[in-house]
Amino acid sequence: MRTEQPKTIHLKDYREPDYWIDETHLTFELFDDHALVHSRMSIRVNPGEAGDGRPDLVLDGQNLELMSVELDDKRLASGDFQFDENTLSLKPERDTFELAITTRIKPRENTALEGLYQSGSMFCTQCEAEGFRKITYYLDRPDVMSRFTTTVIADKGDYPVLLSNGNPIARGDHDGGRHWVTWEDPFPKPAYLFALVAGDLCLIQDSFTTMSGRTIDLRIYVEPDNREQCGHAMDSLKRSMRWDEEVYGREYDLDIFMIVAVNDFNMGAMENKGLNVFNSSCVLAHPETATDAAFQRVEAVVAHEYFHNWSGNRVTCRDWFQLSLKEGFTVFRDAEFSADMNSATVKRIEDVSFLRANQFAEDAGPMAHPVRPDSFIEISNFYTLTVYEKGAEVVRMLHTLLGPEGFRKGTDLYFDRHDGQAVTCDDFIKALEDANGADFTQFKRWYSQAGTPRLNAEGRWDAATGTFSLLFRQSCPPTPGQSEKLPFVIPVRMALLDGEGNEMPLRLAGEDGERGSETVLSITEAEQLFTFTDLSEEPLPSLLRGFSAPVKLIYPYHRDDRVFLAKNDPDGFNRWEAAQSLAVDVLQGLVEIHVAGRPLMMDQRLIDVYRTVLGDDSLDPAMVAEIIRLPSEAYLVELAEQADIDAIHIVRDWVRHTLAVTLEEQLWSIYRRLDERIPYSAEAVQFARRSLKNTVLGYLMLTESQDALSACVRQFVEANNMTDRQAALVALVNSPFDDQKRAALTEFAERWKDYPLVMDQWFSIQASAAQPGGLERVQELMEHPAFTLRNPNKVRSLIGAFASQNLINFHRSDGEGYRFLADQILLLDGTNPQIASRLMTPLSRWRKYDPARQNLMKRELSRIMGKPELSPDVFEVVSKSLA
Ligand code: TRP
Ligand code: ZN
Repeated sequence: MRTEQPKTIHLKDYREPDYWIDETHLTFELFDDHALVHSRMSIRVNPGEAGDGRPDLVLDGQNLELMSVELDDKRLASGDFQFDENTLSLKPERDTFELAITTRIKPRENTALEGLYQSGSMFCTQCEAEGFRKITYYLDRPDVMSRFTTTVIADKGDYPVLLSNGNPIARGDHDGGRHWVTWEDPFPKPAYLFALVAGDLCLIQDSFTTMSGRTIDLRIYVEPDNREQCGHAMDSLKRSMRWDEEVYGREYDLDIFMIVAVNDFNMGAMENKGLNVFNSSCVLAHPETATDAAFQRVEAVVAHEYFHNWSGNRVTCRDWFQLSLKEGFTVFRDAEFSADMNSATVKRIEDVSFLRANQFAEDAGPMAHPVRPDSFIEISNFYTLTVYEKGAEVVRMLHTLLGPEGFRKGTDLYFDRHDGQAVTCDDFIKALEDANGADFTQFKRWYSQAGTPRLNAEGRWDAATGTFSLLFRQSCPPTPGQSEKLPFVIPVRMALLDGEGNEMPLRLAGEDGERGSETVLSITEAEQLFTFTDLSEEPLPSLLRGFSAPVKLIYPYHRDDRVFLAKNDPDGFNRWEAAQSLAVDVLQGLVEIHVAGRPLMMDQRLIDVYRTVLGDDSLDPAMVAEIIRLPSEAYLVELAEQADIDAIHIVRDWVRHTLAVTLEEQLWSIYRRLDERIPYSAEAVQFARRSLKNTVLGYLMLTESQDALSACVRQFVEANNMTDRQAALVALVNSPFDDQKRAALTEFAERWKDYPLVMDQWFSIQASAAQPGGLERVQELMEHPAFTLRNPNKVRSLIGAFASQNLINFHRSDGEGYRFLADQILLLDGTNPQIASRLMTPLSRWRKYDPARQNLMKRELSRIMGKPELSPDVFEVVSKSLA
């Protein structure tokens, strides 16, 4: 057991720093086994905070070897300052002064991938959130903004490329084969946006002309082998730059914009000023090695990091409790960008499915927290689905309430007013309010209250008066530390449909004009009634269109109503929603029947909907693919009070088989129609066709026919792109055709063994396969030469995929899946606590399962809790999970 409990940090304790750092000059001397970091800072007391007497200067620092400290050019003796594990303190004698510090660090030994570390043969940094303190002593907090210059010195042969933020201003050679480059970033920034890269990298170059006519030098740096895989990222970057000018009026500000791909990276990518560092999985894309999903992810992440230049860098966060200020807003921006580039409805469906299966589960679990958390132990644990995805939903609701023009007026004011500042979520809201004369006082509860609100709605038709009344009731379950919730502002986009599926004119009792055929109702009370008048027939409501609020809507639709909506709702998103909720209803009903030991029988209405949708040539094929995809096991688990994972798995499988067999003929005709031999292109139209074709192939393989098998094997062998090849492999791996499965897996690994990102896919396909023996397969794969616990992508694709995608194997009843995961967490906690902590999620959800599994899961949590010297990252999650 650890002796010292890590301490909790509270938002209410925020105060400004005692000192500001106006300038920071850094010199890095990079060597094979260590690096020397010289920093020279111009520091000034913060008059607002100083009070009587000058406070001590307390700098953050971690794992640093302190070599020297100089105050105004005088070297300090060891009695002139104090230092411990996490700080360096001294008593300045003047209000402004220069402080020079030299530290020695060991990037090679840095397996946590935070601070300065080595990835393969290159050096790189990751400073968000609190990594800069592992490089040098500093005021490592986002409200301390400083102008940085950085000189990097290294061996010229091994590290010909030396990069940092801003513009290169000088370079030269030293004796002994070393060289140096100096970079200057004219924009003041917090330390978390600092970056440095050194390596033997090749460069892909392009340029972009901004709306004011400036030419920006665009550069992507990758390892030489990956040179051919950067085109899509570069195109995505240019599209992002144009889009931010057009939609937000935001222009890029430096003369150069760089992206570097690194193989070992804890997250997706990082928006360092002028020098974005990316997980290579979010940059590299080539038709032969990357799937359509990977192409779209690259586009989205490139856009996300680029958009941070304004929403994050020019206007940054005051403190880490405000993380969603930049992340929620930026996720909303990148989602709108992707929607504009591809199919908007499909993008929304994907995001909503993901949110409901994952963020809703987080909101219902032990780590639930508001979009703006009140406290944390380790900030790395709060880069969550709640801060990112729910935060984006909150911004989307503001966009819905203000409309596009009002929202744009608000963001213009926000960027204008706060350019160069470190601000709060309240500042963001205030700008939107001031620009529109709006009042978001109540709306702000979305930032302070955790949990997913429930919205119950009921409709009542009064034929005598031609009125339809909708009664809404909202509530929100308790979450840790918050037992009572006040009503939220819930925007409900909706329409009323007549018997033909046409939208009816909306007239609300008590209002003068008409609201057109679609409107947004603003629900602000715990209980609220809306009465629609002048209706010629009983309407069927189409509610929460586009998922206009992150709530659980419960409306007592009959299954026939859902069928009607799935076939007729003019709103594409709600057609999908109706089919999805019909499938959920059917599956939940069958789970009960299965548990009661009665035989399963298929509701023909689900088949009917699928048949209709499959036969509707007017629909976007990607939409059809989404509609015929059954809700995931994870979502069914989330919806259940107590999840019976065996029953969920068996029933969902049975329904999939039944659908496949029943619709076989129609599925074949679609497969044949879409199985076209055309050159690959990464465009929405082709994404859509491949998405439907491969979803159909997945169903066809469930029929276990020889025809399906040979089509699948043929597609695997002959595909001219990874999307089709991989879809065939997935279908084979999940089939009973053992010989073909083994042959395909072997051939695939042989062909792609030198492509780590493709091997990640190979691991994750096997880790996710539901066949019995999943754990043993994963354990075997851990021994594969391409696997290593040191690379986060590998950990995610094998261990992460197993624990979060392969529910039936992970939750095997003897608890061995839990024990395996806990073992890996304990190993990783010693090398990479951020990754270890993220793997905790499946175990933290123990309350969802039956008592026997609960005990087995708790046993593993206790075992983790008992490890001496547990990282604060894992400690926070495990202790909150057991609380
Ligand atoms: N700000 C990054 C983003 O765009 C998040 C991030 C990247 C991060 N690397 C990290 C957060 C490491 C914590 C630790 O979303
Ligand atoms: Zn981000």
